[in-house]
Amino acid sequence: MDHSFDKSYWDEHWQGDRAGAPAAMAAGPPNPHLIREVTDLTPGTALDAGCGAGAEAIWLASRGWQVTGADIAAEALARAAERAATAGVADRVQWVEADLSSWAPGAAYDLVTTHYAHPAMPQLDFYDRIAAWVAPGGTLLIVGHLHDDDHHHENDHGHRHGADAAEPPASASVRAADIAGRLDPAAWEVATAEESHRDRSTHGGGVPLHDVVVRATRRP
Ligand SMILES: C[S@@+](CC[C@H](N)C(=O)[O-])C[C@H]1O[C@@H](n2cnc3c(N)ncnc32)[C@H](O)[C@@H]1O
Repeated sequence: MDHSFDKSYWDEHWQGDRAGAPAAMAAGPPNPHLIREVTDLTPGTALDAGCGAGAEAIWLASRGWQVTGADIAAEALARAAERAATAGVADRVQWVEADLSSWAPGAAYDLVTTHYAHPAMPQLDFYDRIAAWVAPGGTLLIVGHLHDDDHHHENDHGHRHGADAAEPPASASVRAADIAGRLDPAAWEVATAEESHRDRSTHGGGVPLHDVVVRATRRP
């Protein structure tokens, strides 16, 4: 890997200058793990940390959540705002351009979620940081990447060759047990801590995704 996952990396990524073009992310459906884990929750306020082009934030808004979608890349947020307007939920989503390794919200949320965000800071520290923004009684939902290093190798950009070229580097990979293990049992009840495989369809076929999902509730 010859770069950091800093603002300039993500700006270039969303402007289409990097390997792993963002087209699939920009047009994709909401994450199935979000739909499964959140459907039964009572809507309130939500933060999608590293929201990209907004599919998950827009889905939450359409379910009645009042959503903040935060991302470091202005181009991603421009696409997200356009999609929210088309979906008729623009009044339920606020888009915030921010570096989440330094930005902090003014109030806690009923739901803090993140899907595949991998910032320049260490991945588990990032999850600790966003977990602190969950209100008492609220939910933390982390959807991350898991790498099977027996079957992949990195190219010069830290991304994968071949059909799964959009996959990020191993530094973004975490285990469900490692995330859950950072959540103090006195303060959190872990409802889901699992690892699974699925295919995301793209114009070129199916892309294998190895996911980590952790959902936890902050004790009131
Ligand atoms: C792999 S993309 C995932 C986007 C979206 N959540 C999805 O699932 O399609 C990672 C996202 O995290 C954002 N990101 C990376 N570092 C960030 C940071 N420090 N602060 C805010 N957003 C960040 C990127 O701009 C990018 O949109």
